[in-house]
Amino acid sequence: MCGIVGYVGDKQARDVVIEGLRLLEYRGYDSAGIALVDNGSIVSDKRAGKLANLEKSIEETPLPPSTTGIGHTRWATHGAPNDTNAHPHLGQQGRVAVVHNGIIENFAQLRDELEREGHDLRSETDTEIAAHLLENELERTGDLTTAMQAVCRRLEGAFTLVAVDAQDPSLVVAARRNSPLVVGLGEGENFLGSDVAAFIEHTREALELGQDQVVTITRDDVRVTDFDGHEAAGRRYHVDWDLSAAEKDGFDWFMRKEIFEQPRAVADALLGRHDGRGELQLDEVRITEDELRDVDRIVIIGCGTANYAGLVAKYAIEHWTRIPCEVELAHEFRYRDPILTRNTLVIAISQSGETADTLMAIRYARRQRAKVLAICNTNGSTIPRESDAVIYTHAGPEIGVASTKGFLTQLMACYLLGLYLAQVRGTKYGDEISAVISELEQMPAHVQRMLDQAETIYALARQNAQTRSVLFLGRHAGFPVALEGALKLKELAYIHAEGFAAGELKHGPIALIEEGLPVFCVVPPRGRDQLHDKMISAIQEIRARGAHTIVLAEEGDTSVAEYADETITLPVVPTLLQPIVATVPLQLFACELATVMGHDVDQPRNLAKSVTVE
Ligand code: G6P
Repeated sequence: MCGIVGYVGDKQARDVVIEGLRLLEYRGYDSAGIALVDNGSIVSDKRAGKLANLEKSIEETPLPPSTTGIGHTRWATHGAPNDTNAHPHLGQQGRVAVVHNGIIENFAQLRDELEREGHDLRSETDTEIAAHLLENELERTGDLTTAMQAVCRRLEGAFTLVAVDAQDPSLVVAARRNSPLVVGLGEGENFLGSDVAAFIEHTREALELGQDQVVTITRDDVRVTDFDGHEAAGRRYHVDWDLSAAEKDGFDWFMRKEIFEQPRAVADALLGRHDGRGELQLDEVRITEDELRDVDRIVIIGCGTANYAGLVAKYAIEHWTRIPCEVELAHEFRYRDPILTRNTLVIAISQSGETADTLMAIRYARRQRAKVLAICNTNGSTIPRESDAVIYTHAGPEIGVASTKGFLTQLMACYLLGLYLAQVRGTKYGDEISAVISELEQMPAHVQRMLDQAETIYALARQNAQTRSVLFLGRHAGFPVALEGALKLKELAYIHAEGFAAGELKHGPIALIEEGLPVFCVVPPRGRDQLHDKMISAIQEIRARGAHTIVLAEEGDTSVAEYADETITLPVVPTLLQPIVATVPLQLFACELATVMGHDVDQPRNLAKSVTVE
């Protein structure tokens, strides 16, 4: 949420910052702004709306040459998304410019204090407070780094701040607490970004910053301290993807590209995890096998799509390990005083690794002595760093706001974790584990078969372009698939969409069925006779009441033909793994429907890719 860029070097900062913002725009697109240091003053431009508005403005009124600058793309929290509230914000004298991601919680009190001192605050944002405080400190100390440390000591809440001083073009100073910030290490130039996409075009060497740290970058130096000014160190790492992964590759949307990348992503999620004899090795798991054997309860936390991955994981993990497993929305979890012990394993799922709700839940769980294992896609992000162990999903950068390959690879990681726990605890024989792994190895090819049906799904989406409501039904592991299908449609097409457990239908939702209402029905594999047959009954019931049934059923399942207005064929896979294939057509459907409706698929209204505020 909110994209931040900082640059100092020998290139034109304007170009580096705007290009960085373009690659970060998925984080927020309510406004965009830039500030450059120019001969003792700050030159800034900022515009409400997408980055294109800022670019147009810069084209009309060009910015001066400068090699030091900062930029911001906003997801609004404090104050409406207009030009005034857009970042950067300047101090009272216009000597410092600041961009910010997060929420400063003691902002009202600080604002009163500044106003009493005669400061003229123009925006409704909490960020402007930080700019004014920073400039005060800078006037007092003469040093932007010291000033930033002092300001950070006074701020409460979550923030990444990046600032420049009109009188010192040699540096950019930044700080972070509970909000992401990485440094890009160049030759004769250095970068700051909310994530590595901001500078991946220029360097793949990055420095991950710790909590409550301040960093000062100049052309040739990067200096890290804590908020008290003590020297500190970041963790250096190499980014294993390049700019091409952050580009659309000829697709109209990042989301569509990411859907089509899923066979590769699913294969990568599996890569190197087992030794060919079925023995799993998840070496990022820094929790001992003895500790894993002692686990008597699992709680899975996450938000949005990650939560649905957790719902699927519950079915698999309980079945394979017999450990009681619950799934909870991360933001609900810590506020209900959950019972956690040192034998509780908390599995935190997050694509971005920055979701504040999930991060706060992790901290809470660790304070209660529970062990936390993160399933995450983003190396260098906060959630893996603050967990006891991590399994990376290796999906590559996910830019489309609605998660697709993020979800499928989370499922893969959950399956691997479930099997690993079963191996460690001896609840499954080696050959049983190998058999599931062999099935998992087939998944990339199965996902590809789903993608091969894209044109049929697109046609279906176009037929439904006028629809105002769509329902999704599933049972067992197909229930979270129904929830995910509905979420995709809400996020992208802005229409009413709901997922239900098919068994619940007769307890209420069936009242929603009316003539022509499209209902996606995920039919369990025939191997699960009872589940399968009950699902077929549910389809009969809704069809009799006029629903237009779009049935996802495995190849060769002739029992559905009579009740299906449309059929989408799924490969024959085990019930627990069916979500990997059944989700794909629902993603394609939502992507195409939103496209036909003329929506921005990659940047749906009101949403942000990574929600770094609670
Ligand atoms: C936001 C996104 C969702 C995502 C959720 C969790 O709400 O819009 O698409 O599923 O955050 O994100 P995470 O990065 O923690 O998986």
